[in-house]
Amino acid sequence: MSANLARLIVRRCDDLARITDEPGRLTRTFASPAMRRANKLVGTWMREAGMKTRTDVIGNLIGHYAGQRPGAKILLLGSHLDTVRQAGKFDGPLGVVLAIACVEQLHRGKIRLPFAIEVIGFADEEGVRYQTACLGSRVLAGSFVEKDLDRKDADGISMQAAMRRFGGNPARVKQSRLNPGRLLGYVEVHIEQGPVLEQKDLAVGVVTATAGQSRFIISFTGRAGHAGTVPMDLRQDALCAAAQFIVAMENFARKTNGLVATVGQIRVEPGASNVIPGTATLTLDVRHRKDSVRLASCAALQKLAWRAAEVHKMKVVWQAVQQTASVPCSPQLSGRLKRAVKKHQREVAALPSGAGHDAAVIAQITPAAMLFVRCKGGVSHHPDESVSGPDVRVAFEVMNDFLRRLAEDYA
Ligand code: HGY
Ligand code: MN
Ligand code: MN
Repeated sequence: MSANLARLIVRRCDDLARITDEPGRLTRTFASPAMRRANKLVGTWMREAGMKTRTDVIGNLIGHYAGQRPGAKILLLGSHLDTVRQAGKFDGPLGVVLAIACVEQLHRGKIRLPFAIEVIGFADEEGVRYQTACLGSRVLAGSFVEKDLDRKDADGISMQAAMRRFGGNPARVKQSRLNPGRLLGYVEVHIEQGPVLEQKDLAVGVVTATAGQSRFIISFTGRAGHAGTVPMDLRQDALCAAAQFIVAMENFARKTNGLVATVGQIRVEPGASNVIPGTATLTLDVRHRKDSVRLASCAALQKLAWRAAEVHKMKVVWQAVQQTASVPCSPQLSGRLKRAVKKHQREVAALPSGAGHDAAVIAQITPAAMLFVRCKGGVSHHPDESVSGPDVRVAFEVMNDFLRRLAEDYA
């Protein structure tokens, strides 16, 4: 039975991976046409599993599986349905589809638990369209930053306009926080996106904490000019200043134990081969398990940006977009996951997450825990992202045991 459901889970991740905003590769960003199609498909799966579905003010898709009596507390499950650009199939969707399969198992057996279950497909965890991550979970946790509604995407569309077009209601983002008193907790199943479980030859592991992350937008403003006539010593080439910063950033991160820093996007204006770049705007993503090291590193990196601007005789604007602290997972919920894992594999691995997750935000309102699933080569944010059916089966069986034991203790 669980082998079939594991195959169904992987197949549904395949089905979802065909829903993209960019033909030829998987890209599904906040409030996009592909997100609408994904919500429609996943909503069907939720209703087939006996859930009532709703979409909230920001586009989170929520399936509700009632408990034994009205007003029962709610256990949240799920993950995100948006993706990065040229994404893999499992980062996000695996957690949503596996949670639906757990509910489907209960529904088929006509089983009601002493608590309700809500499976959430979050609207935006990656932050690709507006650079701010976890928009969906921040609305539910009550930590959405309203001024972000005015952020513009690459086409100049504001977040609030995109939300309205999607059928959402930006005016109510602050009133859409979940009531913590109604919640039992949140558990997210997610691919590890790293090499540890593969090195240990384990199918699943329990997450100890998510790494803190800082996101910035850095703009170097020089002076555009003719590539053929401006002598090198008279130039203010914004891209050269950015390049000096990027190389200095990489050297700094390599020398700082446990720090990772990435420039994932850069935009050069005016962007012609025979014009000296006038502006270079780049994104910077900085992470470390210890918040104090991350914050000190961000300050040091800012100085490197200032230095690069000074050397190239130009201005630089360093804009903090988002700061997310490192968040420990709930020891109680994690302990329950560990007991369930013990039944299905020879050892229980506990490991930190270098990636950010909605669980880190939902932890603001209710105990949160995560179960990692081994992914091949630790590859993620890449089309080669993959999981095995047998590992998905272990994760599914662990989650079923987790739910069964929680129900016994909660009855
Ligand atoms: O970037 C991350 O850590 C996650 O995949 N959103
Ligand atoms: Mn993810
Ligand atoms: Mn991701």
